Amino acid sequence: MTSVTQTFPATRLRRLRRTPWSRALVAETRLAPADLIWAIVLREGEGVREPVASMPGVERLSVDEAVNAAREAKALGIPALALFPFTSKEDRSAGAELAFSAENLMCRAARAIKDSVPEIGLMADVALDPYTDHGHDGFLEDGEIVNDRTVEALVRQAVIEARAGFDIVAPSDMMDGRVAAIRRGLDADGLSHVQIMSYAAKYASCFYGPYRDAIGSSGVLKGDKRTYQMDPANTDEALREVAMDIAEGADSVMVKPAGAYLDIIWRVKEAFAMPTFAFQVSGEYAMIMAAAQNNWIDENRAILESLMSIRRAGADGVITYFAARAARLLAA
Ligand code: PBG
Repeated sequence: MTSVTQTFPATRLRRLRRTPWSRALVAETRLAPADLIWAIVLREGEGVREPVASMPGVERLSVDEAVNAAREAKALGIPALALFPFTSKEDRSAGAELAFSAENLMCRAARAIKDSVPEIGLMADVALDPYTDHGHDGFLEDGEIVNDRTVEALVRQAVIEARAGFDIVAPSDMMDGRVAAIRRGLDADGLSHVQIMSYAAKYASCFYGPYRDAIGSSGVLKGDKRTYQMDPANTDEALREVAMDIAEGADSVMVKPAGAYLDIIWRVKEAFAMPTFAFQVSGEYAMIMAAAQNNWIDENRAILESLMSIRRAGADGVITYFAARAARLLAA
């Protein structure tokens, strides 16, 4: 490690920082558009871009607009999009039926994007929360989110999404055993090429607040998700979650949220050397935008610094609502 012979004045660490060319040469971490997955919220309609109040700069996109976003991503060098559906109250139900329809918004968007921009990778969330009338990720029975019946439903949802063209299914539900079940379900359906990125260490976080607004869950969510998402107090438990998901067949793992959980990203990458992703979630986005709108921080610098920090902690890639803006800033 740092040698004791590194003493002032023979050693002056500022020497390496003096000029832009030198700083570029000694930079230890790189951030590139290829490290980003662009999180996009879908809605019904045509030619619609509807602002999300709690996420300034983020709009819910109709399918045709999502196709345009995919074209933009390709031009910017962003490899993949992660799609999330807004669902109105009327389309939600206790049985989350819409999750299993090949005609739902997610599936229509996947087909349309794959028709026009087949080179773009597409990632689908697997969880019932956009479709349940109580906003939970699984089925609710006698006040409990039931595990095994939910897992069966998640398999059906994942298979339907993969058939529609999604390249990566990303279970974000935190049920036990869902990765193995989804892998079996995909393989049995001839979808062995479809990847699973598990939301392996996902915390019961307040930073999802704006997302629930974006997908129409905030008004409907009853209670919280602490019986299935992780306690922010825990680290060792995250390693157990990740180990199990890898054993069950996850191709890559995710830590979520990102900014307040950099230590988890670091430990996961160190322990497993797996392709490791982190989700810079809606609340992280909203905090940066709110502070920037007040001129309390520099928006562009905050975007790049927050993403660089997540990379530095060990993430191979970042799912972020800032992807297109960050890619443009990186190209400038
Ligand atoms: C649903 C899901 C959530 C997010 C991604 N998938 C919210 C939650 O678990 O309540 C959060 C995304 C974000 O905040 O940007 N299972």
